[in-house]
Amino acid sequence: MDSFFAVTAPGLEPFTHQEMLALDYPAASMEPGGILFQGDQAALYRANLHLRTASRILARLGNFFYAATFPQLEQRLASLPWERFLAPRQPVSLRVSCHKSKLYRSDAVARVASRALDQRLGAPSPLLKPDDDADQASQLIVIRLAEDKCTVSVDSSGTLLHKRGYRQAVAKAPLRETLAAALLMASGWDQSAPLLDPFCGSGTIPIEAAMLALGIPPGLNRRFAFMDWPGFDKPLWQSILSQTSPRPESHPLIQASDRDAGAIKSAQANAERAGVAEFIDFQCQAVSSIQPPPDPGWVVTNPPYGLRLSEGKDLRNLYAQFGNVLRQKCPGWNVSVLCSDSALLGQMHIKLDTSLALVNGGIRVRLGRGVVNTQ
Ligand SMILES: C[S@@+](CC[C@H](N)C(=O)[O-])C[C@H]1O[C@@H](n2cnc3c(N)ncnc32)[C@H](O)[C@@H]1O
Repeated sequence: MDSFFAVTAPGLEPFTHQEMLALDYPAASMEPGGILFQGDQAALYRANLHLRTASRILARLGNFFYAATFPQLEQRLASLPWERFLAPRQPVSLRVSCHKSKLYRSDAVARVASRALDQRLGAPSPLLKPDDDADQASQLIVIRLAEDKCTVSVDSSGTLLHKRGYRQAVAKAPLRETLAAALLMASGWDQSAPLLDPFCGSGTIPIEAAMLALGIPPGLNRRFAFMDWPGFDKPLWQSILSQTSPRPESHPLIQASDRDAGAIKSAQANAERAGVAEFIDFQCQAVSSIQPPPDPGWVVTNPPYGLRLSEGKDLRNLYAQFGNVLRQKCPGWNVSVLCSDSALLGQMHIKLDTSLALVNGGIRVRLGRGVVNTQ
């Protein structure tokens, strides 16, 4: 049994935990920043393939240890079983954090770690800078020193998990796929009633909704760092892949629209790549022109919420108009709206619970959830 940690963005821990319980990880436990779980290689592969809201999965390398001097640190690091995860000369990147520890210089800790690693593997591993925005070309190693307690982890995901591979065309201010999946979970959408996103941009919410409802695993079409580990068990991975069972017969009505023609073009291209274009009804239209079906469903959306003051009045009008459109065309529907500004949400004049705080692109946001009142 190994220990793993599914890292999440701030606020997404409960959603990843909920996913893990549904995926049959009963002992998964929620911690600040992610979910701790134990398991074998299959548990790790399944988590990478199926989790929709986690950012990456780290594998703990050995047990934690205490180190208060550099020689102590080097000796303990060199005794870790690096060869399980790294071939000699494989490029690595080191992310080191030091809190309240005698060894407080992360650059010095990284140098010692690099030496210890080369010593253990018998050859130098080239050091690259970690870069979350690029596709990960090196094996990321995360070293955390807190009150002299050192934990070493190896990243099993590689490129961050929100990059499913389908979103190559982006419109303005796209949501991370992991956040879009969490919004759908938080909205309480039952995956069979109609779903509407009238400000769909590059289509992240409707595409994630279609993948969720159709049972398409988010990691189906991408690589993971664990595939380069010396002990990668390809037959095991293939048997896990063969157990996935998309459900194309049970798809809900998903309507996605945006007034920007370029955004709709991007959204359609992204949906094609995700294999869900035929399940989403895309329309280029302003929010005032939406034509939802009569049966109540869910509106899950992320309207613009500019930070520049000059945009304030226009945005207030847009939210007021959105509220009116919903009352006219979607009475009784559930609504979940992501926005950075509670005052803007207030313009909708729909009673919304704004207790769920999240972060989108470094900005603190809230998800306003409620039911559209009738006029
Ligand atoms: C924050 S972005 C949505 C991003 C999207 N969730 C994604 O992941 O790409 C807001 C979108 O609202 C659209 N929009 C702004 N005003 C609109 C209106 N009156 N009617 C419809 N769409 C509008 C913009 O074109 C923009 O694509």
